[in-house]
Amino acid sequence: MAGVHSRLLATFLLLLSFGLPLLTAAASSAGCGKGPTLRNGQTVNTNVNGKSRQYTLRLPDNYNQSNPYRLIFLWHQLGGSAQKIIQGENPNQGGVLPYYGLPPLDTNKSAIYVVPQGLNAGWGNQNGEDVTFFDSMLQSVSDGLCIDTNLVFSTGFSYGGAMSYSLACSRPNKIRAVAVLSGSLLSGCAGGNDPVAYYAQHGTSDSVLNVSGGRQLRDRFVRNNGCRAVSEPNPGQGGKSTRVDYQGCQQGKEVVWVIHGGDHNPSQTDPGSNTPFAPRNTWEFFSRFN
Ligand SMILES: *[C@@H]1O[C@H](CO)[C@@H](O)[C@H](O)[C@H]1NC(C)=O
Ligand SMILES: *[C@@H]1O[C@H](CO)[C@@H](O)[C@H](O)[C@H]1NC(C)=O
Ligand SMILES: *[C@@H]1O[C@H](CO)[C@@H](O)[C@H](O)[C@H]1NC(C)=O
Repeated sequence: MAGVHSRLLATFLLLLSFGLPLLTAAASSAGCGKGPTLRNGQTVNTNVNGKSRQYTLRLPDNYNQSNPYRLIFLWHQLGGSAQKIIQGENPNQGGVLPYYGLPPLDTNKSAIYVVPQGLNAGWGNQNGEDVTFFDSMLQSVSDGLCIDTNLVFSTGFSYGGAMSYSLACSRPNKIRAVAVLSGSLLSGCAGGNDPVAYYAQHGTSDSVLNVSGGRQLRDRFVRNNGCRAVSEPNPGQGGKSTRVDYQGCQQGKEVVWVIHGGDHNPSQTDPGSNTPFAPRNTWEFFSRFN
């Protein structure tokens, strides 16, 4: 018996010593271990396909060049701007909280944010130019800062949700998870055959991008991720959000869908609450991955 036990123990220790480091190892970017070449609050000008493009960075306090950070892309809505994402707008009037409300939830200070500015204040992604812009930003930030390249995320409302979906389609090996807030098919879907962890929320009374568009996007990743389809839930009383965690998805390729009774609104709250639920749901989803 003792022999069996010690062999089991030895196997277990072997698994521990070889398995765990593989599972938990961060994919450190080229910028790790070096002085940062990009600063908190910096707006970077770059040139993509002959067009001038801009994005602004937010680094956590006490940025540590030895620590591989999560990288979260925040795309604005049509007519919005990087500046409006940074400053935030009144959530009681359908505005977004600063940085989509995520930094206060990141109590570990684990994330760096990239806030891009759209051409014509949108993400038309003509000939894939906004995806190319993403590639360029990811490269520069990976070189200039310490990023865990396995922990790259994307979120946005409306057109910004469409752009996040487009990246899930075309960059499944770079994007770990997306959060699509009231999105629709507006920025294209090149590729679109691979699994990516997918959170989305949508209102049944959306008067700008109807909920069927949001369901269509979701269903692509329900399929790609190998999840079982479920019957469509309704919002609860007073439009209260109802959440579906799809089952049977490939590991790490979860799909979460939140349906609510509201309009086109990134800051939808549940009855009796003043707190928009998108930030907490998004952070809960993104922080599962490490
Ligand atoms: C930076 O992070 C490294 C790795 O996690 C850690 O060993 C070091 O103590 C940190 N430095 C500071 C100043 O916190
Ligand atoms: C902080 O990090 C720990 C360890 O990775 C993780 O379990 C926890 O969920 C994180 N907290 C938040 C709020 O993200
Ligand atoms: C939803 O919007 C799409 C795109 O604008 C449109 O093609 C479709 O007919 C709409 N569906 C419903 C049920 O209103």
